[in-house]
Amino acid sequence: MESLTVELGVRSYPIHIGAGLLARGELLQPHLRGSQVCIVTNETVAPLYLARVESMLGGRRVSTVILPDGEQHKTLDTVTIIYDRLLELGFSRSATLIALGGGVIGDMTGFAAATYQRGINFIQIPTTLLSQVDSSVGGKTGVNRPLGKNMVGAFYQPQCVLIDTATLNTLPERELKAGLAEVIKYGLINNPRFLDWLEHNMAALLRRDPVALAASIKVSCDEKAAIVAADETETGLRAILNLGHTFGHAIETAMGYGVWLHGEAVAAGMVMAADLSWRMGLLQQGEAARVKRIIASAGLPVAPPAIAPDIFIRYMSKDKKADEGKIRFVLLEALGKAAVKEGVDSSLLAATLGAGAQLTAG
Ligand code: NAD
Ligand code: GLY
Repeated sequence: MESLTVELGVRSYPIHIGAGLLARGELLQPHLRGSQVCIVTNETVAPLYLARVESMLGGRRVSTVILPDGEQHKTLDTVTIIYDRLLELGFSRSATLIALGGGVIGDMTGFAAATYQRGINFIQIPTTLLSQVDSSVGGKTGVNRPLGKNMVGAFYQPQCVLIDTATLNTLPERELKAGLAEVIKYGLINNPRFLDWLEHNMAALLRRDPVALAASIKVSCDEKAAIVAADETETGLRAILNLGHTFGHAIETAMGYGVWLHGEAVAAGMVMAADLSWRMGLLQQGEAARVKRIIASAGLPVAPPAIAPDIFIRYMSKDKKADEGKIRFVLLEALGKAAVKEGVDSSLLAATLGAGAQLTAG
């Protein structure tokens, strides 16, 4: 097992990573508060892992909430199912919520924990690659609205993140690839050596080699923990974690939540961000081509779906990084170095959107 800490002063917390951690109740016990514990999961993950997590809680009376599965259910209505269950159960402020599932479950459970009685204890047990390398770490919680992704939410840190890498054995292929998009992101924004490593190890990751997967999760969590420790509430540096997300969130929203997976949309978005970086003279053409190659090697899309440029721009203007409608992009100044840029020349942006449309059509 590997352990690291997200350093946030009194709110610091551990991330434990290893195969078989769902049998290690002693890792969870110190982070429970009071006697009331509720596991929030969904109808896909429950039959796979709920009993194992229940048995980690040794003798406590454990309640469960089983939500419908899918990004389209990441809504305030679904979160109210959690609130109402906690109220029925008479849960007090000393209760603990455990999120068991992917990023959708983690984001909604975290938001419920942040808001139920103004804040209760919570623990993340992420079971997708994407949630193990990204969403379970750093305390972003929330839900989607029809006009914008993750537009309602709170920063609220968990007490502990427990990553059992063996849960990835049951993950569908498409979801594994979607998680690789966020793994590649860390190489592109901050760690060129990791990018080299990923190019050499992509085949091993795709065949779920446990050593390669665990190594990629550890590096990703290290990268994310350091950025979150430096800028918890995204006043500056943390925005680089959104490479590809301005384009990606527009794809997810325009297509309808769940049609393109988050990681797929981010993958195409990162290719578009690299293309725009090249057009702006920040990256060499060969470097932008390398971004596309590594994303293609993970079996991920390298072009957006057919979305008219004006629709793209409309959704991108609503991005959380946008300031009074002015779109801000995370771009690459080198492979391994990201920066936030605003005031991007509209003709260059149009060229990137046009290039994407041509690739889609071709
Ligand atoms: P997801 O939560 O929808 O999970 C993907 C699918 O895999 C679901 O059908 C789920 O039921 C299933 N599943 C989960 N674990 C499984 C397992 N071990 N075996 C078999 N099936 C399993 O999607 P995701 O990719 O995990 O998360 C995407 C969400 O995360 C998006 O809503 C995105 O906005 C959010 N996100 C949040 C942050 C953050 O910082 N909070 C960061 C990145 C992404
Ligand atoms: N996934 C972006 C962030 O956590 O900031």
